[in-house]
Amino acid sequence: MDFSVKKGSPETQKSACLIVGVFEKNKLSPAAKAVDAASNGAIGALLKQGDLKGKPGQTLWLHAPAGTQAQRVLLAGCGKEGELSEADYRKVLLGAFMSVKSSAAKDAVCCLTELEVAGRDAAWKARQTAVAAAAAVYTFDQLKSDKERNGRPALKKVQLLAGDNGKEIERGLREGAAIGAGMDLTKDLGNLPGNICTPTYLAEQASALGEQYKEITVDVLDEKEMQKLGMGALLSVSTGSRQPAKLITVEYHGGKKKDKPVVLVGKGLTFDSGGISIKPGAGMDEMKFDMCGGASVLGTMKAVAECKLPLNVVGIVPSSENLPDGAANKPGDIVTSMAGLTIEILNTDAEGRLILCDALTYAKKFDPAVVVDVATLTGACVIALGKHAAGLLGNDEALIQGLLAAGQTSGDRAWQLPLWDEYQEQLKSPFADLANIGGREAGTITAACFLSRFTKEFRWAHLDIAGTAWVSGGDNKGATGRPVPLLMQYLLDQVQG
Ligand code: BES
Ligand code: MN
Ligand code: ZN
Repeated sequence: MDFSVKKGSPETQKSACLIVGVFEKNKLSPAAKAVDAASNGAIGALLKQGDLKGKPGQTLWLHAPAGTQAQRVLLAGCGKEGELSEADYRKVLLGAFMSVKSSAAKDAVCCLTELEVAGRDAAWKARQTAVAAAAAVYTFDQLKSDKERNGRPALKKVQLLAGDNGKEIERGLREGAAIGAGMDLTKDLGNLPGNICTPTYLAEQASALGEQYKEITVDVLDEKEMQKLGMGALLSVSTGSRQPAKLITVEYHGGKKKDKPVVLVGKGLTFDSGGISIKPGAGMDEMKFDMCGGASVLGTMKAVAECKLPLNVVGIVPSSENLPDGAANKPGDIVTSMAGLTIEILNTDAEGRLILCDALTYAKKFDPAVVVDVATLTGACVIALGKHAAGLLGNDEALIQGLLAAGQTSGDRAWQLPLWDEYQEQLKSPFADLANIGGREAGTITAACFLSRFTKEFRWAHLDIAGTAWVSGGDNKGATGRPVPLLMQYLLDQVQG
């Protein structure tokens, strides 16, 4: 998608689609007023029929109104005048672009940046617009044979109408477009099935980023190299699979040489059957999404490179399958992690923490400013927070507050859970340094407790995205691209303060 800034008045825009806001009680936004005046009251007359109540997300088409240069005008409901919240603004945008998507319009001029959203500037609105437009037109049809019939959206170009704030809008658009591109990559990788998106495939996609962007270098460790480093926890997960594990490292060099990097670590389980502690069959296909943490790290690296952020960022993706097999982990097995801690595997389905703990130990070599890991780690997190917020835990309150704020700003929210010492008790093992599960209670917290044993030497936070990384069942089943917006906002905040 091509995003740019446009100057001029709404009614003179030559466009396949002009998007203007309409509030409840038929109150018109400034752009809608301009179109209404130019068209001899066409909007007012249409609204009188009562088809548009003005609720956020609602839309109504007006075709080629006289006095304008637009082939269509899309009226977008904006709620009560003067009360547009951040969440409603996102609803307005998504509703509008979903409508544009289902039309034949190839380009659109959007006048919604003029709307007031308390506490948010034009760059924020532009960023939200680009992300919403990209999300609306995203389609995953690589594996459908008849792509025409499934209907690809026509929309290719979105322009935001600007006043004297063009520069600000342009910056927001650039950032939003980058976030959108990162989310698209994350969704594509997530939606691909386990037989295509293997650890080797993920490594290839990471290497492609290295070829696309000169600031990115990629390094992939194979099992032999991991063996040499003593990654016994990670490797114990892949012994049950015919697909070899990979440890993928993507380095983005945008800052000064001496700037310590932000390190992102993403769980890349390309299929999680549970292993010998096998999962029930219903819905098991969704465990192809168990690499969404890793995919979001790769998506964020792409967005960072697209934005040319003046930062150093390292993405680490430990990747493996988890399958039952004669060589697979068995309950009771004890493995030795790279950090030297021995782990009793009481449940082979708690495999994410096994691959993450070695990747977190590996992260130390980059002398990180902070480490943030992202993982579809626990079903318990879905029970606790549902699909609206990621679980957030860590050992550094400032980092956690930074991530929470980035979640608010981007609308890709997280919610903090406590990482109190008392919970560590649940990981005691009679035979090893720690067990890989902590019982039924507080499953998300004990999973984070497990990781915390491997992150003592740096500032660290953990995002459990089990509930937010994909949408289950139904028509819109698929990867969400989260938490790319949150991570990118956090990184933007490091630059912009
Ligand atoms: N990938 C799953 C977590 C998961 C489950 C994410 C459902 C999204 C939806 C993870 O590897 C897992 O199986 N966790 C177990 C841990 C348990 C054995 C302590 C779980 O949550 O059941
Ligand atoms: Mn599992
Ligand atoms: Zn898993």
